[in-house]
Amino acid sequence: MSISYSARFREKDAVEFYDSKEYGSGSYSTAIWQLQQPVLERILKDFRRERTEPVRLLDFACGTGRVLAGLEALVDSAEGIDISENMVAVARTKCLKARLQVGDILARPELLQKDYDVIFCFRFLLNVEPEMRGRVLRRLREVLRVPDGRLLVNVHGNSRSLRHPAIVWRRRRERTEKSGAMLNEMSPAETCKLLRESGFQVVRRFGFGMLPPTLYRTPGRKVAAVVDRLLAGDHWWSDWSIDRLFVCRPC
Ligand SMILES: C[S@@+](CC[C@H](N)C(=O)[O-])C[C@H]1O[C@@H](n2cnc3c(N)ncnc32)[C@H](O)[C@@H]1O
Repeated sequence: MSISYSARFREKDAVEFYDSKEYGSGSYSTAIWQLQQPVLERILKDFRRERTEPVRLLDFACGTGRVLAGLEALVDSAEGIDISENMVAVARTKCLKARLQVGDILARPELLQKDYDVIFCFRFLLNVEPEMRGRVLRRLREVLRVPDGRLLVNVHGNSRSLRHPAIVWRRRRERTEKSGAMLNEMSPAETCKLLRESGFQVVRRFGFGMLPPTLYRTPGRKVAAVVDRLLAGDHWWSDWSIDRLFVCRPC
């Protein structure tokens, strides 16, 4: 029987793997994050410069605080929420000022405040059960400031990327339920449709990681990292990147 996504990161082993292996030094995910972080910093700085009022950030499904820890200093107030006590326990060791909570925003609406200026939703949508995606997005839409709040959604698997053939091959080779590997993908068009149906309009889209991640485990790693750095951003080719960032406003 497969484990639900909300239970997947509850065990300490899964938390430890995410923190020290998935985002360990020299990992592929860390290389992608190093491309993403400056883009997020720029977006938050621009956002804050354009605002006269304090900027409030919510990081939904904040996990270990990986995203929040590096960016909380750029806003006036920051909150993180996640369903896993063990993930949030790690976040508490990394975040200096963010208010961190554990809980289910669908079952306990009072966990969220109102009128967040910026909401992050990183590495959540792709692997959560499809019926949960719209429910969570609609709840986030209710607490985002209208009209100028921004939702930043990260989808870390793209069925239009060069990695797609490898994912198809792995799906066939591995019995996914047995290995526990997550081999989901969403195309940019599917993501935009889901966001539109949930009350958001995509205003900018970025892409990170064009080359197959296996190259990062070969002697060509440094060259791959340089190529991916040159191709990262909001270009016409970004829809073919593996890791996508969608900047959305409420509509
Ligand atoms: C892959 S991790 C991503 C963590 C963080 N956003 C990041 O990018 O590093 C997915 C997170 O979603 C959380 N999660 C899963 N279902 C959830 C739910 N229903 N409500 C809140 N968090 C949930 C998990 O506990 C886990 O921390």
